[in-house]
Amino acid sequence: MSGLLAGRTLVVTGVISESSIAFSVARLAQEQGARVVLTAYGRPTLVARLARRLPQEPPVVDLDVTDPTQLDTLAERLAEHVDGVDGVLHSVAHAPESCLGGGFLDAPWPDVSAALHTSTYSLKALVAACRPLLRPGASVVGLDFDASRTWPAYDWMGVAKAGLEATSRYLARHLGPEGIRINLVAAGPLRTLAARGIGGDDSGFEEQWSRTAPLGWDASDAGQVARTCVALLSDWLPATTGEIVHADGGHHTIGA
Ligand SMILES: NC(=O)c1ccc[n+]([C@@H]2O[C@H](COP(=O)([O-])OP(=O)(O)OC[C@H]3O[C@@H](n4cnc5c(N)ncnc54)[C@H](O)[C@@H]3O)[C@@H](O)[C@H]2O)c1
Repeated sequence: MSGLLAGRTLVVTGVISESSIAFSVARLAQEQGARVVLTAYGRPTLVARLARRLPQEPPVVDLDVTDPTQLDTLAERLAEHVDGVDGVLHSVAHAPESCLGGGFLDAPWPDVSAALHTSTYSLKALVAACRPLLRPGASVVGLDFDASRTWPAYDWMGVAKAGLEATSRYLARHLGPEGIRINLVAAGPLRTLAARGIGGDDSGFEEQWSRTAPLGWDASDAGQVARTCVALLSDWLPATTGEIVHADGGHHTIGA
């Protein structure tokens, strides 16, 4: 098959609905010739049903990124379906309610710790778990929300994303010698289940984003973010690692 990802095998985390960024990436990746394996968290039957809606039904393996046992056996379980991995999509984040929506000063450490475990440390944990299968030239892509500034309601998830940005740079430093690239895509706001957890668009946030971004922004279309992820997962950015690529309509470049 031809396409940007022809001959490449990807592990895609983070599918929980058709609106998941990961679902758009999995679909586009297959359209571009990739072989895909999905991971499922919590709702394996639902993820299996979503898998059947992709152009080719991919295998699905269970993965809670905070579960050491599942991480320890991940490579073995993936190897039942593939003989090597050329790309990994980390599209995972979660924080207890106390960590979001304005409760920054009150969120207790156990909740903050859970948010950082799932949303930050998990990038390192996932890459380490996949490492035995990663081939030279492999590309890891994570989903970021610009952590250089504060955002309404984002609170401890903003801190988690700042940590994710640093984690990706250290992974790039440590795995570069193995020919493995790690990059993040800083996406603009998209209407997904995770976004609903931080209040969706009640505040006019998306509308303001689309007015500010030089290219405009459509929060109901994950397609542009998916294309950016697929480009990074391909071998067309071979000298790029530890980078944050913004797929936000150019919003981050605007001062006022
Ligand atoms: N939606 C946005 O506006 C936006 C913007 C920028 C970045 N992002 C990031 O994109 C990524 C994907 O989010 P989304 O918006 O597609 O929402 P989503 O709700 O569709 O995806 C979040 C995923 O995280 C998974 N997850 C949660 N806890 C997990 C665990 N312990 N183990 C494994 N998986 C777990 C969920 O199952 C779900 O599939 C997240 O990192 C999010 O922060 C989202």
